[in-house]
Amino acid sequence: MKKILDLIAGEMEKAFRTAGYDPEYAGVTLSNRPDLCEYQCNGALAAAKEYHKAPIMIADSVVEALESSELFEDVQSVKPGFINLKVHADFLSGYLNGMYGDSRLGYDKAGQPKTIMIDYGGPNVAKPLHVGHLRSAIIGESVKRIARFAGHKVIGDVHLGDWGLQMGLIIMELKNREPKLPYFDEAYEGAYPEEAPFTIAELEEIYPTASAKSKEDAAYKEAAMQATFELQQGRKGYQALLRHILKVSVTDLKRNYENLKVEFDLWKGESDAQPYIPDMVQRMKDQGFAHMSEGALVVDVKEETDTKEVPPCMLLKSDGASLYTTTDLATIVERMKLYRPDEIIYVVDKRQEMHFVQVFRCAKKCGLAGEDTAFKFLGFGTMNGKDGKPFKTREGGVMRLEYLLKDINEEMLKKIRESRPMSEEEAREIAGVVGLSAVKYGDLSNQASKDYIFDVDRFTSSEGNTGPYILYTIVRIKSILKKYEEQGGRGDGAEIAAYGNESEKALMLELTRFNSVMETAYEELAPHKVCAYIYDLANAFNKFYHETSILGTEEEAQKNSRIRLLVLTRRVLEACIDVLGFEAPERM
Ligand code: ARG
Repeated sequence: MKKILDLIAGEMEKAFRTAGYDPEYAGVTLSNRPDLCEYQCNGALAAAKEYHKAPIMIADSVVEALESSELFEDVQSVKPGFINLKVHADFLSGYLNGMYGDSRLGYDKAGQPKTIMIDYGGPNVAKPLHVGHLRSAIIGESVKRIARFAGHKVIGDVHLGDWGLQMGLIIMELKNREPKLPYFDEAYEGAYPEEAPFTIAELEEIYPTASAKSKEDAAYKEAAMQATFELQQGRKGYQALLRHILKVSVTDLKRNYENLKVEFDLWKGESDAQPYIPDMVQRMKDQGFAHMSEGALVVDVKEETDTKEVPPCMLLKSDGASLYTTTDLATIVERMKLYRPDEIIYVVDKRQEMHFVQVFRCAKKCGLAGEDTAFKFLGFGTMNGKDGKPFKTREGGVMRLEYLLKDINEEMLKKIRESRPMSEEEAREIAGVVGLSAVKYGDLSNQASKDYIFDVDRFTSSEGNTGPYILYTIVRIKSILKKYEEQGGRGDGAEIAAYGNESEKALMLELTRFNSVMETAYEELAPHKVCAYIYDLANAFNKFYHETSILGTEEEAQKNSRIRLLVLTRRVLEACIDVLGFEAPERM
């Protein structure tokens, strides 16, 4: 379906043409005087310069040309040359009936679907998920769903950090503890055990212990670096350990992401890109892009228009070791080969922006991806505690994701228990569903690039701009619809009719914005626009609900029309929370 603003602009274009003016001037916006009209056109003001006429004269003749239009109930020219447009009630309800009859609620699929890869999550293997990874997961999941809903083929990749010194550290620490394991015996020829020599709980203790030791003991660190090197060179026993570490970690990560309703299509990692490095580097050398600088192999990526210093992209250190940059470049090579994406979106902490500027430029310069491949960096800000500083545990340590979610769920549970009597089991279940909305909405309602304050109290409140408020609204609609059914209402064949009061009209107008909001959210990779919209929509609904006795509507046809309006509102809200990555319970 066309966007309602486009339909209105189309009507205005006709009128401009009829009146003898260029239809280019016919643009329409939402009115900034909603008390007077719903939409307005300021084109006469702009046209005045070209036609050397007073804007009001132009506005007057456009208004005249609109006389027979069925879209508008009233059209007024206002000095100095505004055109105020009041839409016809039947046009509005006609539009909503169109949405109601469409499974996509009036939002057309992209005409030319793209293949889009989203790189998000980015957890580091063997290290517990912490809140820093929470934002990437939440934002990335939403952007994925928004792009998918727009009709694109979207592939989400978790891009594990599985290729760093942390691997060597774990291997070393294991070796110290259990030197007799076959993984450390270079002469060992047999098959390695199926079972990992550690549990996830042990692994989570091994890494921090090793990391702490390496900071104090230079020889220990040296040994870990050597182990990392040997692992990367393909030492058999270490490779087998890497597989164990990956398997144990990934099982745990999957459980964590599942709790967040975050799903990846690919569980690839930095280690998958390694086989592509030697060839890629050789080509960059052969084609003259890479050169030696102070012992390292680099590609220059600065541009004349840079206002900030963009250092060369480093491919290999002087000892021949590859870096984070090299891995990301090789991952591009791999992705182009296996998936041919039109676009790759990286959802990563904004402090890594320079890294991605270098990687994107280098990839383009060296032809790793075609001219028409788009690289997008969606950098997010820091999640802070109430003190405005990066989120910490009460003891001052790095906050683990699981504990944070637990905190939210406990708080939610308390609030749910207070709301009405229910079984412990039901309370826990609802608290889980609503708690997730609190976390996700609390994050997504902010523009991604901004830092924000994680405020358990505010996020779990059922009032204000929060996830629980949105869910309460949906649950309220569900319960009215249930009551309607219990009263024998069926609403068969009832169309949405002309509005009966101002708040009903306001709700209808909000509903018409759905397709336009979704389109913008996709184009700008901006889930916060969906949040802002459902907050407005929920407010419009609640106002309507408080001012109108829906089930008490006397006239049967009008009552059924309102029921349909409620169903449509519920569907729109549900489509929105679905792209945000959470859902509503039946009752709260
Ligand atoms: N593992 C990285 C980190 O924890 C994030 C990875 C982001 N994605 C990428 N392609 N570099 O900082």
